[in-house]
Amino acid sequence: MRQSSLVVVANRLPIDDSVAPDGACEWRRSPGGLVSALHPLLRHTPATWVGWAGGTGPAPALPDVDGVRMHTVPLTLDDLRDHYEGFANATLWPLYHDAVEQPEHHRRWWEAYQRVNQRFAEATAEVAEAGAVIWVQDYHLQLVPGLLRALRPDLRIGFFLHVPFPPPELFMQLPRRAELLRGMLGADLVGFQRAQAAHNFAQLAAKVLQLPATDRRIAVDDRVVRIGAFPVSIDTAEMAALATRPDVADRARRLRHDLGSPDQVILSVDRMDYTKGLEQRLQAYRELLADGHVKVRDTVLVQVAVPSRERVGQYQILRERVEREVGRINGEFGRVGEPAIHYLTQPFDRAELAALYRVADVMAVTPLRDGMNLVAKEYVAARVDDTGALLLSEFAGAAAELPQAYLVNPHDLEGLKQGLLSALRANREDVGARMRAMRAHLHRHDIHAWARSYLSTLDENGSLLTRLGTG
Ligand code: ADP
Ligand code: G6P
Repeated sequence: MRQSSLVVVANRLPIDDSVAPDGACEWRRSPGGLVSALHPLLRHTPATWVGWAGGTGPAPALPDVDGVRMHTVPLTLDDLRDHYEGFANATLWPLYHDAVEQPEHHRRWWEAYQRVNQRFAEATAEVAEAGAVIWVQDYHLQLVPGLLRALRPDLRIGFFLHVPFPPPELFMQLPRRAELLRGMLGADLVGFQRAQAAHNFAQLAAKVLQLPATDRRIAVDDRVVRIGAFPVSIDTAEMAALATRPDVADRARRLRHDLGSPDQVILSVDRMDYTKGLEQRLQAYRELLADGHVKVRDTVLVQVAVPSRERVGQYQILRERVEREVGRINGEFGRVGEPAIHYLTQPFDRAELAALYRVADVMAVTPLRDGMNLVAKEYVAARVDDTGALLLSEFAGAAAELPQAYLVNPHDLEGLKQGLLSALRANREDVGARMRAMRAHLHRHDIHAWARSYLSTLDENGSLLTRLGTG
């Protein structure tokens, strides 16, 4: 077994086995912030990525991808149902997102979560060189740091949570809250998107485990676990370069033409997830059409909503409701050849996404709760001529970094409508000044700055950063 000095552990691998029927393998990013963040970072780094390749059955042997080793962890059908769809995505995901949908609790799901976390810890222990740095990602694997430390005390272990970490009142609902906290505290550094999340975690460590805790450090046995906020980002330069490519500019022009050359294009790009505020946004749009504030032909909405976690009941219900509403709006307000909403559920490659960002005069990113939201950052990075208005939910992590966006509360329907109108009617100077400030921020705070900041805190001697080409 080949071993690595840097091992990233995430539930999902950046590719799945279906990508390469002929053996030729490429990075194919699954839609989702975690893969989007880590992909540009690790490319050409001699690291191992431990994760699940999608599907069930024996683990497929995947080839190295751009110099990164893929180490597959298999999931059975029971694991898929009880760990991934169950505990991860029907207990933790809704609970961590303000319980906007009701979290479910089942003992069988918890058993599967423990079992799968143990499997990930063992797979990681196998591929980690002595003294390696391990970077465990996200809510599917909160027990891995503790389990791995028991197997391999020589490792330097980091954990990063891409989603919000909830306030104590919500977290306390979890029947196995103490075990989850103890699992995360197996790490040397626990990173969150926002300072408030680190504060929530410290409060819980003190309350549930009676540990001495501040918002920066928690004492556990004879160790000190550091905690902090490390807001994740994107490869800003890569997105800007993509958006300026002549073929992407041509594609954007073509898209505008195909959309009927409207005065204004509004774009939304989401995974089909109930945290993303799709229904509220569609309702606001329908009311603006009904009130006559927005007219089809002058303005079009392009809604990209790629299906996600499709076997989970709450996601199936959401999709049905969204599609019914899109149909209703198009039926009521569209004309032949002129739909009010262009609704697309396909995954797109990065160039097509960049062309869509270029064509959008207004980008509507209005989640009810979101750890960060990289789509908002991708849009800003793509607006290289400082045009375009970003309508952004106050409840996305990105809002703390991009206060120049047109900020809205997506729970407030009137506020959402007003926000959309303000973004549509804003003058060029205002839009330009806001976009310039946001682009300058993302230029400094890109994915490489994120990795530098996290890994230099985790790996005090700094050798890892040099190897990553990030130092
Ligand atoms: P989440 O992680 O909850 O899905 P983010 O906005 O942080 O939300 O990240 C979503 C990522 O998935 C972005 O990088 C975005 O470009 C990508 N993405 C979203 N929709 C699609 C799609 N239809 N095709 C390809 N990539 C997509
Ligand atoms: C969010 C989560 C990621 C996850 C992604 C896509 O970004 O934080 O961990 O990979 O959504 O979801 P999926 O269930 O398809 O992996």
